[in-house]
Amino acid sequence: MVIDTSVALQIGGAALFVWALVNMARWIWLYFWLPQRSIGERLAKRFGPGSWALITGASDGLGKAFAQELACYGFNLILVSRTQSKLDLLKDEIQAQGVQVRTVAADLSNTSPQTYESLAIAAQDVDLSVLINCVGTTVHRRYCDVAAKTLRHLLAVNVSTTAIVTHTLLPLLLRHATSTGRRAAVLNVGSIVGRFYWPGTQLYGACKAFIDHLSIPLAYEYRDQLDVLSFQPTVMATAMAAGTEPGAITISPERAAHAALSHLGHTLTSHGHWRHGLLAAFLVILPCRIRNALFLKEALAMGEVELANGK
Ligand SMILES: NC(=O)c1ccc[n+]([C@@H]2O[C@H](COP(=O)([O-])OP(=O)(O)OC[C@H]3O[C@@H](n4cnc5c(N)ncnc54)[C@H](OP(=O)(O)O)[C@@H]3O)[C@@H](O)[C@H]2O)c1
Repeated sequence: MVIDTSVALQIGGAALFVWALVNMARWIWLYFWLPQRSIGERLAKRFGPGSWALITGASDGLGKAFAQELACYGFNLILVSRTQSKLDLLKDEIQAQGVQVRTVAADLSNTSPQTYESLAIAAQDVDLSVLINCVGTTVHRRYCDVAAKTLRHLLAVNVSTTAIVTHTLLPLLLRHATSTGRRAAVLNVGSIVGRFYWPGTQLYGACKAFIDHLSIPLAYEYRDQLDVLSFQPTVMATAMAAGTEPGAITISPERAAHAALSHLGHTLTSHGHWRHGLLAAFLVILPCRIRNALFLKEALAMGEVELANGK
């Protein structure tokens, strides 16, 4: 049977149209519908009321926002960052809500086994159901201008630590899933920078692309027990982006954390807030040459601010 070219084109066009409609409906569901739903009840039911979440980079910015929101939902918390005084302040604030909090002061750029053992020890005797790998660090400048020490620091914090913390704590998460019959979760924080080739912040982009490549296979390997989200936000108003954030796309870390938690268990990867999802969609359709020029210009401007701030 020979199919007429115009019929083939009509069928192809109709299929494309349906595909676009389905994608648009999914986008609206993800970015507008899910964040409006009652998240706390769902997460407590899915992962176990009163179970524990461990958050790295928890004393500021996005990590702190995750901690505050999960505490509202009744999760007990293990908070990890370098500065004990900041952790203590957050611990006091959160404990007032009636949940238990442990803190671990550890420099996660130090990739020696002792660093990760301190996390395992803190989580060993609790029912750990959620791991949020939030710690991360960035730098904006041409590659030759990145100091060798900074290069090693970025690789240690963004790549090695995410990989090793996940590897260290995954058995505890699976123990929770097996013993309770509920699911466990790993939420890894990447960045939109990992989704594109990003001149001016090439190493950070490569580190954040790693997050996707580590996270998504885990979702399949442990699909019967584990929810995984590779979260790729754009700009948030935190210390990391201080002075560099373009207003229109900047959102608060609280809104970003809320959107990410609403997606946990529903999708493997997301940009969290709809504004960040929209920006990513726009960047995809932008011609590569224009995108690269734009990225480099913005990144170098951000680098100037970082240098002025002594980074
Ligand atoms: N901000 C943005 O616009 C943006 C955009 C996309 C993605 N992200 C990603 O979002 C995540 C959180 O970023 P953020 O903006 O919330 O950062 P932030 O405000 O700078 O907070 C960083 C947190 O990590 C801790 N930390 C930093 N270095 C550490 C180390 N070596 N060891 C242990 N803890 C350390 C800090 O506490 P101490 O200083 O006390 O250790 C702090 O609690 C990162 O993975 C980042 O890449 C951020």
